[in-house]
Amino acid sequence: MKRGKFDSLISVSRIRSIQILMGFLFLYLVLMSLEIPLVLRNGLGLETPEPGSTISINTLPIRSPDASEYFVKENPVFNFQERKKEQFKKVSGLTFDEIAFDSVSKDDFSELHTTVRDAFVMGKKILEEIESGNVKAELQNRTQNRTESCPSSVSLSGVEMQKKGKLMVIPCGLTLGSHITVVARPQWAHPERDPKIGLLREGDETLMVSQFMMELQGLRVVDGEDPPKILHFNPRIKGDWSGRPVIEQNTCYRMQWGSALRCEGWKSNADEETVDGQVKCEKWIRDDDDRTEESKATWWLKRLIGRTRKVTVDWPYPFVEGKLFVLTLSAGLEGYHINVDGRHITSFPYRPGFTLEDATGLYINGNIDVHSILAASLPTTHPSFAPQQHLEMLTKWQAPPLHDGPVELFIGILSAGNHFSERMAVRKSWMQYKSIKSSEYIARFFVAMHRRKEINVELMKEAEFFGDIVIVPYMDHYDLVVLKTIAICEYGVRTVAAKYIMKCDDDTFVRVDAVMKEVKKVHRGRSLYIGNINYYHIPLRHGKWAVTYEEWPEEEYPPYANGPGYVMSSDIANSIVTDFEKHRLRLFKMEDVSMGMWVERFNSSKQVEYVHSLKFCQFGCIDDYYTAHYQSPRQMICLWDKLQLKGKPRCCNMR
Ligand SMILES: *[C@@H]1O[C@H](CO)[C@@H](O)[C@H](O)[C@H]1NC(C)=O
Ligand SMILES: *[C@@H]1O[C@H](CO)[C@@H](O)[C@H](O)[C@H]1NC(C)=O
Ligand SMILES: *[C@@H]1O[C@H](CO)[C@@H](O)[C@H](O)[C@H]1NC(C)=O
Repeated sequence: MKRGKFDSLISVSRIRSIQILMGFLFLYLVLMSLEIPLVLRNGLGLETPEPGSTISINTLPIRSPDASEYFVKENPVFNFQERKKEQFKKVSGLTFDEIAFDSVSKDDFSELHTTVRDAFVMGKKILEEIESGNVKAELQNRTQNRTESCPSSVSLSGVEMQKKGKLMVIPCGLTLGSHITVVARPQWAHPERDPKIGLLREGDETLMVSQFMMELQGLRVVDGEDPPKILHFNPRIKGDWSGRPVIEQNTCYRMQWGSALRCEGWKSNADEETVDGQVKCEKWIRDDDDRTEESKATWWLKRLIGRTRKVTVDWPYPFVEGKLFVLTLSAGLEGYHINVDGRHITSFPYRPGFTLEDATGLYINGNIDVHSILAASLPTTHPSFAPQQHLEMLTKWQAPPLHDGPVELFIGILSAGNHFSERMAVRKSWMQYKSIKSSEYIARFFVAMHRRKEINVELMKEAEFFGDIVIVPYMDHYDLVVLKTIAICEYGVRTVAAKYIMKCDDDTFVRVDAVMKEVKKVHRGRSLYIGNINYYHIPLRHGKWAVTYEEWPEEEYPPYANGPGYVMSSDIANSIVTDFEKHRLRLFKMEDVSMGMWVERFNSSKQVEYVHSLKFCQFGCIDDYYTAHYQSPRQMICLWDKLQLKGKPRCCNMR
């Protein structure tokens, strides 16, 4: 849609509004005459505040396919609002027609459809609330009241902890100087047939294992995924593959582990970075280390003869089977420190992406009997939710102004409301490509409403300032990311009118130039679907992420490109949007499989060129990547710096 047509479009849109109203009236009469007791609701409520936006009326549909097709023409579920000068609309045109979905609720996908409906109803309410301005006042009231709900200490006995799923909730997270003390006893080693941490020696049936873990988790950080493990502390008394007692520490972010910090009894190198002046790993006596008795002897000797020279003592590994220990974890300036029985054992530097307030749960599991836990010096005021610390409100990171020319590529980035730092990292890295800065390609984040009101309020401010966020008006839900994908298609086709549409995640680094080069290899005018394509994948039927037969009855998935980064031509996107409007689009909770299914369907009428490349990385990064996935904010910046400085697509392996 070009700007030159803008004026005429307004009048066209007025005429269209009248047509829509007429259609509405007609439908109303039809329904009344059929005595269908439906209350037609005006499904709008989502129009952008600017004047001149069109009115959409969502009604419909009747069961009969013919009738529904007829009415769909008159009353589109989607509402196309014209591009205003120099700006795109901030709310996705993807709206939802509640009554229509009620009428299809008997097919195979009813459960997901019900979720979709509820999410849209709730999202709409929230959006209205926020726009009314009441939420801010309410939040202020609540903040004043919150103080009581943030105790300065929390304690649990081992029995209570066991009852609560081995989890202690720390309501308002940690703050600088907070500490948690755990009194517990490691259990005696037991034989394991399938040890996860070690290797069975040839001829052995089992391995003796005794290990436990203590984790600080971010209970409120993400919905629908395992909570991130902000600190994973895992002493392995027996059973580690090295054959020695060790302590492993790590983080797990979006279900992806970082690189482990292993303490094996050697003191960290002198040249290694310290944490608040403490080494990451302290030395302990190893069984291959037979100078120990001698060193204790010399220590005593030196004391006896009154030497003042600083001497060190070697202590044994701090955890012993069957022996009570007192462990204290404290939050320092640069990281977490762990002391056992009064001695410093390990320190773990904070990793980016988490704040101390995020650490709202302590989970202890494994071969251990917990006696009691006490967390103290906790923050007594509720964490002032401060996205300012993630967002850099500088004009240079704002979305560039638009021009009249055609848009080659539209990139829709899936994001969640609370991913402030992820979005900031994208803005500061690959959104700085010249082709994006010049609006030859356009990139936008697609975000739905978050459960926490304060996040939505901040999100609206962020959207206003940066101009690169499209709100999809439903309550965010892990099973509904597929709606964001449809919203990307809708926006790419109807608002931007781009030739190609790409979908990625907010932890995907996209080399837009390399991706477009790949796209341009395909003959112009052909339909295309490019990505890291899976063929003959079989649904996972067991475990936590299982797919039921109700959700996916077929034995196989269609060929589909992995979700972190794929491109399609706009004709495919257009057909998806049209099918969605006509309630012909089958929905499945996995957005990438859904896309594969829709493309396959499109391919049956017009052939699609499938282009497969492993350079659209699904897990992490490989050199010469087109897209890299699971990149933390710090890695995003690092990848961009490497491209700028060295001109080479090289990976960044820190987290
Ligand atoms: C906030 O509190 C004041 C008085 O305590 C009250 O008058 C006002 O209605 C409250 N606002 C909201 C949005 O709850
Ligand atoms: C603050 O807390 C008190 C007691 O918990 C409650 O009665 C009151 O309604 C709360 N005020 C607001 C504005 O939420
Ligand atoms: C697409 O259509 C062509 C021709 O109809 C067919 O040969 C091909 O197998 C289809 N591809 C997929 C992935 O379904």
